[in-house]
Amino acid sequence: MKKIVITTEISVFDSVQELPDEIQNLMKLAVEVRKNAYAPYSKFRVGAALLLDNGEIVLGSNQENAAFPSGLCAERVAIFQAGSIYPKAKIVKMAITAASDTNQTTSPIPPCGSCRQSIAEYEIKQETPIAIYFMGEIGAIYKSDSLKNLLPFMFDKKFL
Ligand code: THU
Repeated sequence: MKKIVITTEISVFDSVQELPDEIQNLMKLAVEVRKNAYAPYSKFRVGAALLLDNGEIVLGSNQENAAFPSGLCAERVAIFQAGSIYPKAKIVKMAITAASDTNQTTSPIPPCGSCRQSIAEYEIKQETPIAIYFMGEIGAIYKSDSLKNLLPFMFDKKFL
């Protein structure tokens, strides 16, 4: 028997002001689009902003449904929108922020497992890493240089 030990690397920024200007702007847009979340059930609003290699910015917020599983997370709203409108563009950077109507989120809120799997598909397809920045409403921002750092043992097309 042997063990596989996996390590990951995350950069921690103490505040938005510490981020490079371009990411500050991306995070600002994620905060703005977070307000458009349709979240009457969870009261949990998520905003995602993508910077593409063609310079375009694509936004998304979570959209819920009375039939709960029919709703969609902000990250997937954004990446599917990007794939639909700019199918040839690569996603370079992604900013995510989440806030609750009922309590202030103070720690970085990472993309859920389904969103990680969906982001993985795009990262593999485009053959370049996606830098992912995520935060709560206030507080620190975590940055992952690639989706790979957030999803060890990812399932991808090579297994099919
Ligand atoms: N949500 C996202 O938009 N992204 C995530 O990565 C985690 C969860 C949404 C889904 C649902 O509308 C609400 O947050 C509570 O789970």
